[in-house]
Amino acid sequence: MPLPWQKACWLLALPLLASWGQVGGVPAGLTAQVNQKGLEYGRLFGLSMVTSMLKKSPIPDIYGSHKVPLLGDVQYSLMGISINDLQLEDSAISFSKGLGVNLTLQNGYILLNGSWKLRTMFGPDGGTMDIKVLRMSLSTLLGLGKEIRGQPRVWAARCRATIGDINLKFHGGNSWFYNRFTSVLETLLQSRLNKQLCFELKKGVDDFAQVLRTMNVSMPINSFAELDYSFVNKPVFGVDRCHVDLKGEFFTPGQPRISVFTPSPFVLPKHPEFMSLLGISEFFANSAASVYFFAGELQRNYTDKMIPKGFPVRLDTASMGMLIPELEKEFPDMALQVLVGARKPPALSFSPDGVHVAVFGLIDVFVLLPDGGLAPAFQLKIDGNFTGKLFLGPADSGNSTGKLSGLVHLKNFRVYQGWSNIGDIKVEFLENMLKVSVQLGLLAVNKHLKNGFLLPNIHNISLVNPKITMYQGLMLVTTDLYHELPAAV
Ligand SMILES: *[C@@H]1O[C@H](CO)[C@@H](O)[C@H](O)[C@H]1NC(C)=O
Ligand SMILES: *[C@@H]1O[C@H](CO)[C@@H](O)[C@H](O)[C@H]1NC(C)=O
Ligand SMILES: *[C@@H]1O[C@H](CO)[C@@H](O)[C@H](O)[C@H]1NC(C)=O
Ligand SMILES: *[C@@H]1O[C@H](CO)[C@@H](O)[C@H](O)[C@H]1NC(C)=O
Ligand SMILES: *[C@@H]1O[C@H](CO)[C@@H](O)[C@H](O)[C@H]1NC(C)=O
Ligand SMILES: *[C@@H]1O[C@H](CO)[C@@H](O)[C@H](O)[C@H]1NC(C)=O
Ligand SMILES: *[C@@H]1O[C@H](CO)[C@@H](O)[C@H](O)[C@H]1NC(C)=O
Repeated sequence: MPLPWQKACWLLALPLLASWGQVGGVPAGLTAQVNQKGLEYGRLFGLSMVTSMLKKSPIPDIYGSHKVPLLGDVQYSLMGISINDLQLEDSAISFSKGLGVNLTLQNGYILLNGSWKLRTMFGPDGGTMDIKVLRMSLSTLLGLGKEIRGQPRVWAARCRATIGDINLKFHGGNSWFYNRFTSVLETLLQSRLNKQLCFELKKGVDDFAQVLRTMNVSMPINSFAELDYSFVNKPVFGVDRCHVDLKGEFFTPGQPRISVFTPSPFVLPKHPEFMSLLGISEFFANSAASVYFFAGELQRNYTDKMIPKGFPVRLDTASMGMLIPELEKEFPDMALQVLVGARKPPALSFSPDGVHVAVFGLIDVFVLLPDGGLAPAFQLKIDGNFTGKLFLGPADSGNSTGKLSGLVHLKNFRVYQGWSNIGDIKVEFLENMLKVSVQLGLLAVNKHLKNGFLLPNIHNISLVNPKITMYQGLMLVTTDLYHELPAAV
């Protein structure tokens, strides 16, 4: 049942969604949101990316001939031009509603050098040169969309470059003389560069788009689970945030993908004070539980060999006979094999007070016959309800994105008999005993959970002030991000 505030949230969200053309979008298992604050941080990346892109891009030689008063026909070539200094400090970045990301650079300064050759009626001459480009501005709109197979698609939707002033100075040769006539070449260079800048930018974006187009949209977790994080909808740009819906579903690698659940749509609460938000749905959690279950990872066979030597209770009918006299009566003095685990996938749900896990367990007891066969004795069904809390913190070392820790409580516990070949079993005593074991087990589990797990390193990003907040049906991670800036090349 949705809570009243959730309904109110939906009502508020609907006009927004409608205005973004989102109604009818595919429901997502994970939803990520980047706020203006995150984009502002990303600006520094954008800047260093554009800087290194422009610095790396080769500038073609410029040659031709031109009629110049007093000099007549001049053949010129400007060669080996490279960028010596590039300053793009004055930049702004913003979301452009419904379109993408708007990046503007202003008052850029570029210092280029290279060599020159001229052939005039006075003969050939040459030397080195430097070119100062002043008040350069570059504005571009980066679109972000979705490929059919769920990869992100990026493109430069618009680009405009202008150069305020350009200053060419020859050195060497008779440069003192030719420096009087540079204005013609300056005009030419200016129009060349205007075109070149956007060409290089689009090329850089296209190269990046190609990388994205071929990127994997699923990530292997282990040998039996794989997380699909493909885009399910086109990213949505608002005035102060971008919203991306990801599939967020677990699969067994190499097997046909059958979705057991359908995600319910959810809306992220507004938290502009954080750089980014991640909404995790119950669907995401349950699809993981389901994959683990069907991979057989939530069941295990136990035999007496696996029990430490000095342990007083053995996995045989003599030992178990104290608890279940019917067993010893039927099979005196025999070894047991016990299957312990889940009989169906655990069901996870989220609510403001935590993560609820309903576990549907079983204990199947078999007698190991002298001929090596197994005689089914009986089954216990164990239903337990647990509540857990999860905490997210920064990683202590620089090698991980963050640290996840938690705490689990047992809420309900019930044991009842499943099938039996040894008649009815009294479960009351067994229930109490198993409950105590589970409580003891939880002490150990909680000790591990308290120490926490380091999250894998994802592109060297660290979480700053991360926080998990639980809502009905939604786990929300709010966080700032930190990334070592790529050193400007
Ligand atoms: C992009 O940003 C510039 C400068 O901030 C602004 O003048 C321009 O209108 C913006 N364009 C769009 C499409 O949002
Ligand atoms: C341009 O400047 C760089 C660095 O100062 C220098 O290594 C290079 O030789 C110069 N190129 C020309 C053609 O003068
Ligand atoms: C993508 O996944 C495939 C198969 O899992 C793997 O062979 C390939 O190396 C991956 N590519 C990248 C870029 O990670
Ligand atoms: C447990 O043992 C039985 C019989 O030996 C076998 O069929 C079953 O696959 C085993 N289960 C697991 C989870 O190892
Ligand atoms: C960082 O993590 C990787 C793999 O997660 C590991 O191989 C490496 O040793 C770690 N480095 C440090 C300095 O902890
Ligand atoms: C566990 O919770 C579910 C629903 O949250 C409920 O249907 C079930 O009866 C509970 N199990 C026990 C053993 O209390
Ligand atoms: C992460 O940082 C390490 C050490 O600072 C560096 O060697 C590595 O290339 C970085 N990886 C990525 C994906 O940026």
